[in-house]
Amino acid sequence: MKQNKSIALVTGASSGIGQATALRLAQDGFHVLVHFHQNEAGGAETAKRIEAGGGSSALIRFDVRESAAAEQALDDYFKQVDPESRFEVLVNNAGIHSDGLAGMMSDKVFESVIESNINGPFYLMRWSVRRMIRQRSGSIVNVSSLAGQTGNPGQINYAASKAALIAMTKTLAMEVGPRGIRVNAVAPGFIDTAMVTKIPKEQVVERIPLRRFGTSEEVANVISFLCSSQSSYITGHTLSVNGGLFPS
Ligand code: NAI
Repeated sequence: MKQNKSIALVTGASSGIGQATALRLAQDGFHVLVHFHQNEAGGAETAKRIEAGGGSSALIRFDVRESAAAEQALDDYFKQVDPESRFEVLVNNAGIHSDGLAGMMSDKVFESVIESNINGPFYLMRWSVRRMIRQRSGSIVNVSSLAGQTGNPGQINYAASKAALIAMTKTLAMEVGPRGIRVNAVAPGFIDTAMVTKIPKEQVVERIPLRRFGTSEEVANVISFLCSSQSSYITGHTLSVNGGLFPS
């Protein structure tokens, strides 16, 4: 299959920030690989909205925690497309939280977040840079979090995973910069998605200078910028998208 457009893979694109990012990158002209794991209906909805907006996409399913399955799914997809097709963008958006105070947290809960939020992005960055190095171009954006910059009580596992993502962003940027590949992160604050439904909004917004939660589209706009040539001299950077909650 000849793919004239550059390909962008967005993980966790069945909902929230991932869905908004997939839609935005399709508008930007990418052929979007809409990744999902369990939420098949959400993935299909993203693809449908991309087509409705005149864009193009393909669905891809795997658990980001399983490196062999992820690599197999990606290898299978890229076998069907022209070997010359350019894989320009990886957005590591998929992630979970499973909160609790450190003293009460089980090994299983701690490790589940580490596996999803560190191992998953690592497996995908490893797979992606191998391909991007051959074509000598590409842009990777990791979705970190304000919690990874500041810490957050009740989220020792999540904060650690998102801080690690920033460290991995800096490290990989140094490794692959000479090959023309950029690696950046975004650190959203409070964004109105399924992930924050349990947060007492009225109390939290008082602390946010812009006095509201952000939208998934506002994060997607920043990711779009980091994937585009508009940010061609930015790498290893973490861009905060938090309404001024933690000026950086
Ligand atoms: P969400 O729950 O809608 O999105 C998370 C996505 O990750 C879902 O599509 C889910 O299916 C996918 N996912 C989780 N584990 C997976 C696995 N093992 N394999 C494959 N896919 C998996 O929530 P939201 O808010 O859109 O989150 C997206 C990213 O943004 C996450 O990494 C989250 O940590 C980060 N973030 C969100 C903030 C917020 O306020 N909503 C703030 C800071 C960061």
